[in-house]
Amino acid sequence: MNEKVLVTGGSGFIGSRLIKKLVDLDYQVTAILRKTSKREHLPLDDIDVVEIDLLDYHGILDYFTLHRFDYVIHTAGITKALKKEDYYIHNTKITKHLIDALLKISWKPQKFIFISSQASHGTYKALQRPIKITDIQNPLTTYGKSKLLAERYIEEHYHNPFVIIKPTSVYGPRDKDFLIVMKLISKGFEGYIGTEPQKLSFIYVDDLVNAIISTIALPYTGEFLLSDGKKYIDEDLGRYIKKALGKKTIKIRVPIAIAYIAAFFSDLLARIIGKPTAFNLEKMKELKAKNWLCDPTPFFETFHFIPCYDLQKGIKETVEWYKENGWL
Ligand SMILES: NC(=O)c1ccc[n+]([C@@H]2O[C@H](COP(=O)([O-])OP(=O)(O)OC[C@H]3O[C@@H](n4cnc5c(N)ncnc54)[C@H](OP(=O)(O)O)[C@@H]3O)[C@@H](O)[C@H]2O)c1
Repeated sequence: MNEKVLVTGGSGFIGSRLIKKLVDLDYQVTAILRKTSKREHLPLDDIDVVEIDLLDYHGILDYFTLHRFDYVIHTAGITKALKKEDYYIHNTKITKHLIDALLKISWKPQKFIFISSQASHGTYKALQRPIKITDIQNPLTTYGKSKLLAERYIEEHYHNPFVIIKPTSVYGPRDKDFLIVMKLISKGFEGYIGTEPQKLSFIYVDDLVNAIISTIALPYTGEFLLSDGKKYIDEDLGRYIKKALGKKTIKIRVPIAIAYIAAFFSDLLARIIGKPTAFNLEKMKELKAKNWLCDPTPFFETFHFIPCYDLQKGIKETVEWYKENGWL
């Protein structure tokens, strides 16, 4: 009998890629989706779908009472929002609902895996080295704080096996945030925020998916930062995109004060159209921080994990996918 995996957030960028890989590996997958969730990227013939909004605690509890799973992988969440309270609702509250329901029922999964974010760990102005999992958490954004609260809830209440993965920026096919940067570069514009380069970490979506699956097989519990293990600066991203696109650009470093004004208007526009945008005043808190390097060594060593992609290789594949699929 194949092992049964329940995945939340399956309609999303990371969740849909994860489900496809789990199906390829012969896991029996069930996706929790909302009625309104898009399904076109999911292998619907090979998975079960259950319609539950994770805001509906009793819906989750009723479902868990009748169905058991070997693993629960919780990727659902939001990374941008119109109102600050939405982060707490769609990151903290939905995680609490899943944990409370699991605590109430008689069975427990062999592991609960939560996809949090490096944003929950935050960063420090004076820190020059990569952020370590043992550093005191200092989230800069409401998004980061809402993820941190979700992590704390799991750690304080769920005394069963769990893994919390805190990935850095994830990129790859179907991601829409990096696509904005690629579209600008394809038009010949390469923009950066701040007069000094920002130190960054990245991970390609397929490496993240393989990393998540690597935590299934091994009996370890805990929380882990995750990146491809390399150190980048913001201009590396532009360089690899330019190379993959075969484009020349005008490079501009926008002063932080000007970027804040642009973010203010982006927020205003988001409110007018009623849809959150990737560039906003909250995001500025992350964009102006100088060091987002992180140390994934504890994850690599615990789960014997080696990423297959560095930024150059991952960007090349992503650009090819965008082009083939008419996104670029
Ligand atoms: N992308 C990154 O760079 C990155 C980096 C670090 C961590 N993460 C984390 O990774 C996870 C997945 O990110 P992503 O980029 O794949 O996001 P995404 O494409 O926006 O997908 C988010 C998913 O969460 C679901 N969701 C949100 N609120 C829900 C609710 N109340 N009930 C049920 N489902 C709900 C969405 O369902 P609908 O389709 O119905 O909206 C969607 O399936 C998130 O938790 C994010 O914080 C992402």
